[in-house]
Amino acid sequence: MVNVIYKRRSIRKFDLSKNVTYENLLELCRAASAAPSAKRQIDKEYIIIDDKKIIEEIAALPHGTLNPIDCNSFIALVGKNPKDLTIPGMQVIDLSMAAENIMIRAAELNIGTCFLGVYPIEDRVKAMNKILNIEEGKFCFGLIAIGYPEDEDAFKEWDKFDPNTVRHNR
Ligand SMILES: Cc1cc2nc3c(=O)[nH]c(=O)nc-3n(C[C@H](O)[C@H](O)[C@H](O)COP(=O)(O)O)c2cc1C
Repeated sequence: MVNVIYKRRSIRKFDLSKNVTYENLLELCRAASAAPSAKRQIDKEYIIIDDKKIIEEIAALPHGTLNPIDCNSFIALVGKNPKDLTIPGMQVIDLSMAAENIMIRAAELNIGTCFLGVYPIEDRVKAMNKILNIEEGKFCFGLIAIGYPEDEDAFKEWDKFDPNTVRHNR
């Protein structure tokens, strides 16, 4: 498990001739559900996306470094309506933890991922909600690109740790 954490990195070049199975995508949703959440509130849902037409619609939006068209599948993390939650202020923390679980579990399965931020950019949330038919009150928090990396060395361990970022007691 420890090594898997160090193996994960953002993948932006995928082998488009290989598809991640629906079963594996579902397993990544299961991993997301295992993440901690405030008061154990169940505040998230997942949308598995592997339809090229929908991916093209997503790619037509302004995007960051990764062009969504360069990946065959995605999981959209969806936040349930904050009005229905006990601790709505913690919801985006819960969603972030779930996202990390997806990416770590994927690395364990030698599947590459890249997180694409949606929330809190209002225009992006609105556009993604529309493309994915997300019900009123719920919101698209983020997208995770999921696929097999093109680069064979994609899962080499790396260490980003800077000991100067740590203090010991106070
Ligand atoms: C909130 C958030 C939003 C991000 N949005 C994008 C994005 O839109 N496009 C992209 O290619 N990468 C995106 N990333 C990935 C970061 O660029 C990446 O995590 C960072 O460069 C560190 O590299 P690493 O993931 O390989 O450790 C995002 C990451 C986070 C946490």
